[in-house]
Amino acid sequence: MSAAPLPPRTMTVPEFRATKERGDKLAVVTAYDYTSARLTDEAGVDAILVGDSLGMVVQGHPTSLPVTLHDMIYHTRCVVRGARRALVVADLPFLTYQVSPRQAVRSAGRLMKEAGAHAVKLEGGVRMAGTIRAVVAAGIPVMGHVGLTPQSVHQFGGFKVQRDEAQLLADIRAVEVAGAFAVVVESVPADIGARLTQSVSIPTVGIGAGAGCDAQVLVFHDMMGLFTDFKPKFVKRYVDLGSQIRTAVETYCREVRDGSFPGPEHSFR
Ligand code: KIV
Repeated sequence: MSAAPLPPRTMTVPEFRATKERGDKLAVVTAYDYTSARLTDEAGVDAILVGDSLGMVVQGHPTSLPVTLHDMIYHTRCVVRGARRALVVADLPFLTYQVSPRQAVRSAGRLMKEAGAHAVKLEGGVRMAGTIRAVVAAGIPVMGHVGLTPQSVHQFGGFKVQRDEAQLLADIRAVEVAGAFAVVVESVPADIGARLTQSVSIPTVGIGAGAGCDAQVLVFHDMMGLFTDFKPKFVKRYVDLGSQIRTAVETYCREVRDGSFPGPEHSFR
């Protein structure tokens, strides 16, 4: 049996938003470079998030806090070159938008203008509503992010499941009213994730927020088994590339050392 054909369209912000009315489920992954963007785009994801999670899975930091706007511009450029049809959303990193709405518009503008992102994502609900409004007013589509917002990890005292439903509801509604076209909901109980999804007209993109969300997002290195420092409960490893890479490199080292690589087929006459 052949694989299902890819949808023949390029994903856009209005299309992403409109999928909610049709009840379509959307698949989103993170990517940080050309090759992973190309592969995930060809596999048919609806959107690629250039997440500041790259601080952990690419740069090796314990949190996303050290990621700079320069880092995000660099990685977003790489991803944009590999994405032919998926929507590319770039994260605004810590302290590039919290200072003022003006700062947010400038930083978001750089991700669009210098890196080629189609939209930006920023963390925070009620307290970020004015900032979302300012960025949207500049013509820049915004994806919100509520629940566990990793840039506030120290305020939460760790990467903890968020259970204050009244606060979550106020946050997600504030994000919607401010003009975001979609919103990530991270680390909330599944029943709350479903109720949050029903309470807004924009698509919810869940990560650890249950099956009731309109879309799901996973971090590329988590789902591929490449990042093994820790594994949140919500991560499904679809393949164990980490083990496969280790085995491949061990074989390579052995073949180089015993002289069986390179063989004649890899050598010029
Ligand atoms: O940075 C990131 O990858 C994210 C997702 C986990 C939603 O924000």
